[in-house]
Amino acid sequence: MNHSEHRINGARGATAENVLVRHATPSDTDLIARLIASRVKESSLLPVPVDNVQDDINSYTIAEINGEIAGCVAMRDYGDGLVEVRSLAVSKEYSNLGIGSKLVREAIHRWKDKSAKIFALTSRTSFFERLGFHLVDKSLFPQKIWRDCDACPKKERCDEVAVLHGTRE
Ligand SMILES: CC(C)(COP(=O)(O)OP(=O)(O)OC[C@H]1O[C@@H](n2cnc3c(N)ncnc32)[C@H](O)[C@@H]1OP(=O)(O)O)[C@@H](O)C(=O)NCCC(=O)NCCS
Repeated sequence: MNHSEHRINGARGATAENVLVRHATPSDTDLIARLIASRVKESSLLPVPVDNVQDDINSYTIAEINGEIAGCVAMRDYGDGLVEVRSLAVSKEYSNLGIGSKLVREAIHRWKDKSAKIFALTSRTSFFERLGFHLVDKSLFPQKIWRDCDACPKKERCDEVAVLHGTRE
């Protein structure tokens, strides 16, 4: 099935075009935490405790369909113009409709500092490449390694690569 066929057969006629992408508000906290938790097991997504979602709620952008949260993404600002795309999740019901792509594009588009270096750690390389990211060496991002990777149970068998948005230097 190609991508346009996925769109036509989306859950209850949903497409990336009729999705509302907006900043998250505190009342979205529980649903965001639940959505992320629902996709942790089968992917390389890191779990995010509900308290952390609450603390960082202003960093989340969400995709809403008929009042339901279909997807989310967060932007973590490390300062000095370094920003990570993280906690990207789309509910299984709404997968492969272009919603994940739309969320990442919008979150980048809305980011205030247009010269920021925006990166992600991911096992979905082709997904990010299609959105204008390219592969880079993980060692470029020490802050990320300190904060998450040191505590990650997959540290020694990590299957993620680092991708950076924008043109190569
Ligand atoms: C990764 C994830 C967010 C993608 O969400 P999504 O809404 O299904 O994403 P999209 O519909 O935009 O793209 C999914 C697929 O549709 C197809 N697609 C999307 N845009 C396309 C296009 N323009 N042309 C052709 N195919 C396209 C691709 O097959 C794509 O998968 P691929 O990039 O891995 O090949 C979702 O699968 C998820 O939540 N996974 C579990 C958590 C996770 O892995 N998060 C990412 C951690 S970095």
